[in-house]
Amino acid sequence: MKTEIIRLLKESQDYISGQELCQRLQVSRTAVWKVINQLKEEGYKIEAVRNKGYRLVEEGDVFTQASLECAVEGQWAGKTLYYYDVTDSTNDRGKVLAEEGCPHGTLVVAGLQTAGKGRRGRMWTSPEGTAIYMSLVLRPQIMPSSASMVTLVAAMAVAEAIRQESEADAVIKWPNDVVVKGKKVCGILTEMSAEIDLIHYVVVGIGINVNQTSFPSEISQTATSLTIETGRQISRSHLTAKVLAAFEKYYAQYEKTGDLSLLAEEYNSRLVNRGRQVLVLAPKGQYTGEALGIESNGELLVKTEDGSVKKVMSGEVSVRGIYGYV
Ligand code: BTN
Repeated sequence: MKTEIIRLLKESQDYISGQELCQRLQVSRTAVWKVINQLKEEGYKIEAVRNKGYRLVEEGDVFTQASLECAVEGQWAGKTLYYYDVTDSTNDRGKVLAEEGCPHGTLVVAGLQTAGKGRRGRMWTSPEGTAIYMSLVLRPQIMPSSASMVTLVAAMAVAEAIRQESEADAVIKWPNDVVVKGKKVCGILTEMSAEIDLIHYVVVGIGINVNQTSFPSEISQTATSLTIETGRQISRSHLTAKVLAAFEKYYAQYEKTGDLSLLAEEYNSRLVNRGRQVLVLAPKGQYTGEALGIESNGELLVKTEDGSVKKVMSGEVSVRGIYGYV
């Protein structure tokens, strides 16, 4: 009922009477009144005027199951949606749900993570109320060796969504960061359960720094938020919905070919590493070179000082000038 009331308030250009809400939802006036009060407590600014009814003045940055359900409009990504005020890690929740058989496109979102995970066993600091922690469960019909490309698809979606919702100039740092003005605003952690030739499921975890106004000193040189970069407060629900819509669009292209051949050109146009000196931390040692862009399989091409072109599959690539070499 909450979701329906938010929808009706958003759709209505003018005041909507309590009676109309009761009739549309087939509930009592008291029930409507209770939900309106809950919505106000959650942060919706709702004006109530005698003989006129209710009017939604401002949505603010409400981030709840209902606010997300109202905002998400896509075909499949986020159609099944679980919001938790607090969870350990949305990726871990996603894995449990996947094991239980949840559908392709199930979305897990949290307001706070107590054990947020970054890549390579790092932790992802996940305070309450300002960031997006979301994980998408996918069941792709592809070989496990192709699954890492999903991370690049997600990075494209996040960068596009940020540009649409906040107008910040979001670019991609291969393979899994989104960067604004040289600092990280988003990290992506893709995890998979598979057999040698069969994917059971993939969980794409996305953390976006949205409305933080400062960061702990250990990361303040390398991390930023959309609010810090644009001076605006961004709706996390709307940004989440935009990420899902962009993900559906790019994922459809990826599914057509099973690789990034239809996306590589656009990916490369958003790639902050392109044309820059990069330090590749490869398992057999490190080397420097100029990043040329990705190939259709998602590998990064790096032209080394002797003129040869190396293909970097995964691993840590540091970009000169983009939060240093580490
Ligand atoms: C990285 O840059 O190291 C990846 C960070 C990924 C963080 C997100 S937040 C939502 C999801 N749940 C997690 O525990 N991690 C990912």
